[in-house]
Amino acid sequence: MPARFLFTAIQAGAERALKNEIAREHPELRFAFSRPGFVTFRLPDEMRGDFALRSVFARTWGYSLGKVGGAADAQLASDAWRLVGEQPPDGPVRHVHVWQRDRPLPGDEGYDGAADELARSVGALLVEQEPDRAKLPKVNSVATAGDVVLDCALVERDEWWLGWHRAQAPETRWPGGAPTIALPARLISRAYLKIAEALEWSELPIAAGDRCVEIGSSPGGSCLALLERGLNVTGIDPAEMDAEVLAHPRFTHVRARAKDVKRSVFRNCRWFVMDANVAPSYTLDTLDGVLTQAGARPEGLVLTFKLTDPALAEKLPQLAERIRRYGYRRVRMRQLAFNRQEVCAVADRP
Ligand SMILES: C[S@@+](CC[C@H](N)C(=O)[O-])C[C@H]1O[C@@H](n2cnc3c(N)ncnc32)[C@H](O)[C@@H]1O
Repeated sequence: MPARFLFTAIQAGAERALKNEIAREHPELRFAFSRPGFVTFRLPDEMRGDFALRSVFARTWGYSLGKVGGAADAQLASDAWRLVGEQPPDGPVRHVHVWQRDRPLPGDEGYDGAADELARSVGALLVEQEPDRAKLPKVNSVATAGDVVLDCALVERDEWWLGWHRAQAPETRWPGGAPTIALPARLISRAYLKIAEALEWSELPIAAGDRCVEIGSSPGGSCLALLERGLNVTGIDPAEMDAEVLAHPRFTHVRARAKDVKRSVFRNCRWFVMDANVAPSYTLDTLDGVLTQAGARPEGLVLTFKLTDPALAEKLPQLAERIRRYGYRRVRMRQLAFNRQEVCAVADRP
């Protein structure tokens, strides 16, 4: 039986933005079920085989098989495989991805790893109950592109929603669309996690020795992540930088607002990052100054757009269009798992 529903894992609170986006991008989908962090849609009866979801707000997505419920985990795990048997995925299940909706991630207040522990133990139960013992799936590891993944979203402690997808793009290989990023000894800022995810998701071909300029660099989490990858980093920010970043031999601080810096700061800059706490239109005006007045020609851009007003989510297609007008043919946007009320835009000319 072909899949009838689709599930999405999203940031809790982004449900409205996701529903509006799907209504615009995929009018053929009908909203079905929603809890903070987890939303499903009904697929049309007639569906082509090559469906791909276009969404900024979905961390990841897949075909939904429905839910199982009850107090006994072992029974839920066995019921889960019954659902899989009724609507078999397109191939053998190689991975089981289990995650709790609406869970704090590393760097969030309230993160203590307990949700990860619960997810792992549910995953282990699912593997135990797997009916075909020939090749046991792995639990919550990064899937290989092409592999079929069984998804289990713990929507409530006693209500698990099952689904499956074929891993392809990086975000579809991560459990619940959230990458595991090793925390540094000291997290200078959450921006460390944001840029790490942005680079893994976008697969921008950054290389050691490249020059990168970041506007809005203080206190320096993302600069540190870029320095760790061997880049030469210039940070532009009127605010102070963290001492560890400031002391790094490949780091230069230009302590000023973006509009007050000399053109030469952008010379030979291969990558341009901007994460300033300003409105998206101001971010693009600043980018305009860098590309037109300062004459910089970075190969790739990584921009954070703050969604201070929920209505800004509706403007994302226009923002992407403005970036394309500068000659960046490919503009991709994603609400990163490590983003808050903001989204990440990556532009390049592949
Ligand atoms: C969210 S913080 C950046 C975090 C930083 N990327 C990190 O990795 O830690 C925003 C920063 O943008 C800076 N900012 C705001 N407007 C700016 C402007 N016009 N030029 C340069 N920096 C600006 C602020 O001073 C603030 O430090």
